[in-house]
This record gives sequence, C-alpha cells and structure tokens, in this order.
Amino acid sequence: MAILAIDQGTTGTTCILYNHEGEPVARAYREFSQIYPHEGWVEHDPEEIWQSVVSGVRELKAGSDVPVTAIGITNQRETTIVWDRVTGRPVYNAIVWQCRRTSELCRNYEAEREMITAKTGLPLDAYFSATKIRWILDHCPHSDLDTLLFGTVDTWLLWKLTGGRVHATDFTNASRTLLYNIRKKQWDTELLDLFGIPHSLLPEVKNSMDDFGRVTALEELNDIAIAAVAGDQQAALFGQCCFQPGSIKNTYGTGCFMVMNTGDTFIRSEHGLLTTLVLGADGKPCYALEGSVFIGGAVIQWLRDELQLLRDAGESEAMARDAGDNGGVYIVPAFVGLGAPHWQMEARGTIAGLTRGSNRNHIVRAALESIAYQSYDVFRAMVADSGFSPEALMVDGGAVSNGFLMQFQADLLDVPILVPANAESTSLGAAYLAGLQSGVWRSGDELVKLHQAARTYVPDMAPQERCQLLSGWQRAVRQTLTL
Ligand code: G3P
Repeated sequence: MAILAIDQGTTGTTCILYNHEGEPVARAYREFSQIYPHEGWVEHDPEEIWQSVVSGVRELKAGSDVPVTAIGITNQRETTIVWDRVTGRPVYNAIVWQCRRTSELCRNYEAEREMITAKTGLPLDAYFSATKIRWILDHCPHSDLDTLLFGTVDTWLLWKLTGGRVHATDFTNASRTLLYNIRKKQWDTELLDLFGIPHSLLPEVKNSMDDFGRVTALEELNDIAIAAVAGDQQAALFGQCCFQPGSIKNTYGTGCFMVMNTGDTFIRSEHGLLTTLVLGADGKPCYALEGSVFIGGAVIQWLRDELQLLRDAGESEAMARDAGDNGGVYIVPAFVGLGAPHWQMEARGTIAGLTRGSNRNHIVRAALESIAYQSYDVFRAMVADSGFSPEALMVDGGAVSNGFLMQFQADLLDVPILVPANAESTSLGAAYLAGLQSGVWRSGDELVKLHQAARTYVPDMAPQERCQLLSGWQRAVRQTLTL
C-alpha cells in the first residue's frame, strides 16, 4: 500500500508515494510556467497546473504498481482561481500569492483594517485571496455571477480530480483568504459584504482530514479517496509533528516560512506576525503564529545568477567555511522590502561592512548568514508574542542540507536545530493526514515514533560572539531602513 501526496507548490508540482513507515518510495516533479504580465504581477495557468499533476501522477504510476490507499493534497496558499462551473474553464489565470496588483485596491478597505485582522488574524494585504477575487470579478467579463466558483489551488485540483463533483477546501486554506473568520471557523458575512463577494462563489470548508470525494477524472487514480487537504506551511508543520503548543518549524525555500503552534490561543501579534489556523495531532484546528522571510535561498540564486560568484548553490557551504569568518560583512537582502518584524516594503538590499580585504567568500558567507539572521528576527518575534521558549527548531526545505547554515542558525538562536530524515515535510504532512484519515496510521503518537530527527545541530557559540554578530546585523538593518 502507499499514500499519494500531491504537493502543488509555487514553482512546481511534486507527487510522492509514501509507504507505511512514512518513507518516500517514488517521486515525480513537474515545473510549470511563471507568467509576469506586468511589473509586480505573477500568474499561473490553472490548466497547466492541472496537467502538471496529471503527468506527475502518470510518471509515478508507470514506475510503481503499489496500490494507492488514499490521496493527500497540499498546495501553495492564497493563489486565487475563479472558474465557470458550466464550462469548467477559468475566467482568468490564477493570481499568485506573490502578485502585488491589488496593493492599491487594499486602500479601499483601509477603514476596516482592524475588523479584518480581528476576525481573520491577517493584515489587510494583496498577499491574501479576497482582493484578488475582487480584481477578477471587476476585470473579467462574465455573463452570470451564479455560475462562477472561486477556489485556492487545492479547490481547483479537487474540482478537476472529481470531475466537477466536489467544490471544497479545508480550514487551513480558508484561513488565508481574508474572508474566513478563524474564531468562529466559518465564512464571514461581514467580510463577504465588504469585498462584495457572493457566498455562492465559495467552496465548502471541511476539516483537513475529511472525505473530499473520489477521483473520477484521472484513470490512474480512479475511485481512490481524497482523504486530506492542507495549505503547504500547515502541512509542513504537521509533517514535522509540531503538535504541541510552542513547537515551531522553519521551511527554507526561496523564502523562509516559520510557523509556531500556539494551541487553543488566538494570539494577536505585536511584532508583525500573522495568526492562522493549523492542525493539532487529531487533525482539528488550532492556532499558530506565522512569519516569513521574503528572500531566503533566493539570495544564493542571486549570487549565482546576477553576481556569478558561484556556479552552483551547493558551493556556498565550502566557500563560507573557507572565509573563516564574515570579515565584518553583512548582506541585508531586502530585494522586495523587509517582512516581519520590520515591515518596510520600500526598503532595498544593502551590503555593509566592506573593506579592501573583503573577498568573494566573505560575500557568500554573509549571504548565507543573512538567511539565519532574518529567521532569527522572526523567531524572536514569535517568542515575544507567544511567551513560549521553544526547546528546538524543526527545519525542512532545500537549504537544510547546508551544514554551515544550519550550525550558524543553531548558534544564533542558542536552540538546537532538528533536521528530519525527509526534508520534504510538506508532502510528508499531507501523507500523514491522508494516512490518519484512511486508517493507515492511528494517532499522532504513532507519527511521532516514525518521525525521528536525522541530524541535530547543537548551539556552539560563545554568548559574547553571538552578541557581537547580532549587533553587526542590527546595525546593517538600521542602515538599510534609513537609506
Ligand atoms: O503562502 C505562500 C506559500 O504557501 C507558498 O509556498 O512553498 O509554494 O513557495 P511555496
């Protein structure tokens, strides 16, 4: 038997089969097009997303005859699709979470900012789905509002997989729309009225572990139950078994997403974090704080592609070690502004502390260190808001293979870093959820036993050195903010 996890991310779709031990046994990956019609706009073609799932699944099934017990879907969140239920065709491309086209539109709702955050846990921002839906309704000709459906990518895939029978989402995805009341756990009529979005557009909100119907539109998976749906960061938290209040994970991708489980407590952040719904061990909703670093691994891509300081991101670890220390150099990669806890969208990147002796390796080291410093800032904000003192930071994503970065992160936080055997926690979380729902696993405790850390980085830095490095970073951030 196997569980199929479909991880529909921002740059590609990964399909993974997991066995009873929670180990990946087969994997297929498909990239798809990023569409940039204007400066700051980002779109995907919903049909291409669907085809990436179809071809990924076909490749997996061609290479493996293990029967699939159940399917779990996890997805890039907030990305907005509106389609016609009669024709089945999207009325516009998917507007991606990164797209800033509705920044100006947000000003229309300025007076209701406090009410929006009190109900949704989210700031009024173009990042979330509500203003993206409004934009599509305002700009795309449609004869009949009654035939339109809205969905995040999970909803779109459910609709496609079930041949248009299921129009649903789960509470983690709903909690990112700016339309879902995370205290009452329902679509909020006042918010729907504010953004002028008819209720008929919205999917039914289910639990993340639930009956999402059976596949009818993809022969390779015919009649298999879709047993779980969760937004990717929430799935990663679950995949890391962060079930207890105060447990915390950081995913190192193009950016970094840090999420802390805060249990039954809805915490309003005073440090620029957002509040969102995640899953307890039983799959039921609980609260979390979330903060993101916009430029994480992307700073290394920048060194590779724009500055051509290295050929491959993998070289960065040896170069950072060769440098010996940072030589007083700090990079603040505010290429698209700075997120939590600074929230300066106008800030732009700086390199501080350059001397005649600064070399390539110092710059590469400073770039890697910047990922850890920014994550440190979000981590401190979470501790300040929540009052929890986490015993460890669970990490996942591509950059966890960089031993230098992980050790430096542990040293800065003064907290052990735990790297799981499978760093693809997002898809693992979706598999865990689908496996629990379909009876493959019985409890969160069973998952905790399966989920052993493969590697631990123990803090090993003198407090004085940490203090000096952090004050250098804080100085560089101040310089960036005052430029
Ligand atoms: O909120 C956006 C997030 O869900 C996207 O994640 O991994 O697809 O970049 P990712």
